[in-house]
Amino acid sequence: MSENKKEIVLSGIRATGNLHLGNYFGALRKFVAIQDDYDCNFFVADYHALTTNPDPSQLHHNVKSVLAEYLAAGLDPEKSTIFVQSDVPEVAEMYLLLNMHVGIGELMRTAAFKDKARKALGLSQADDDNDEAFEKQIIGADTNKRVNAGLLTYPTLMAVDILIQKATKVPVGKDQLQHLELTRRFARRFNAFYGVDIFPEPTDFDFGGAPIKVPGLNGSGKMGKSEGNCVYLIDEPKALTKKVMRAVTDEGPQSPNAPMSEPIANLFTLLELCSTPDVVEHFRSAYADCSIRYGDLKKQLAEDILKITNPIRERINDILADEAYIAKILKNGAERARQRAADTLNEVRHIMGIRKF
Ligand code: TYM
Repeated sequence: MSENKKEIVLSGIRATGNLHLGNYFGALRKFVAIQDDYDCNFFVADYHALTTNPDPSQLHHNVKSVLAEYLAAGLDPEKSTIFVQSDVPEVAEMYLLLNMHVGIGELMRTAAFKDKARKALGLSQADDDNDEAFEKQIIGADTNKRVNAGLLTYPTLMAVDILIQKATKVPVGKDQLQHLELTRRFARRFNAFYGVDIFPEPTDFDFGGAPIKVPGLNGSGKMGKSEGNCVYLIDEPKALTKKVMRAVTDEGPQSPNAPMSEPIANLFTLLELCSTPDVVEHFRSAYADCSIRYGDLKKQLAEDILKITNPIRERINDILADEAYIAKILKNGAERARQRAADTLNEVRHIMGIRKF
């Protein structure tokens, strides 16, 4: 009974490959930290993975590896409901129903859609700053370069993941805040249209500060699988250290207290996430008085990242080898997730006028 009183948390990660430090600090670390205090629901988003990676030979393995990484990082199936998105078929039906209340225009204006559509069409950044040109490109795209409708309706599906569980707190990284804003908008709109109060408006969940964007090692932008700038939880120590040592830097501070270039600021962001405050302070003052040696900073950063990733990596392979354990967790998780999903879907069908004869 008291279980039901806890606030409902829900989040997921797409099954598009191994998890990197962005996924870890933006999402997974938070999932692990809040398991005792909330009604936690964490899933592997395999439907969402299909919007960009429709490769059947990879998907099953990717689902399994994300799950193993969840468990290796400390998600506990006794505390949290852990499941695969497609094991809850109610999500697919509600996605269809919610889409009736979602505008094509608002989906097309989503930053993540523009970014991915631009990549799919081979357009430059400048093209999508001009909405009209961007729309024309999409409508006119030839069949080889199409932008799939699943990519456009990605935010509807994400909203359904959240709303079908009636979650109020959603731990995600900064890049997902716009999708969360859309989820709130869809919830409000549905409630208002039918004069009901079925969906709570979910908020981001950062128990320790502002939402974060973990930068990559290539000097600019966020760490992301498609950017080729990632440190993966599963990276072997030697390879990981090599990657970090190769991170982009600059020619060094030219005068005391010089402003930092983006690549250096990014390295400090990573240092702040992975190292102790005294280490950060040491390198900050070395930067300020121009005595910093970037090689030392990177060496320290690699060591401190490994302190975090080593214990996780060591557990991943053991978990992957235990098929029966994985199957049991997913069976239980799906059963639990489906209960609430089925209740919500029934309510939604009824509200929208779909009744049994
Ligand atoms: P995905 O797989 O792209 O990302 C999973 C999580 O990792 C976070 N993240 C980052 N955080 C900080 N810095 C980075 N460089 C970085 N890269 C990734 C993302 O913000 C995210 O929290 N659409 C979601 C998956 C999803 C979902 C949901 C999440 C589907 N349905 C419902 C919450 C609730 C996504 O982008 O996954």
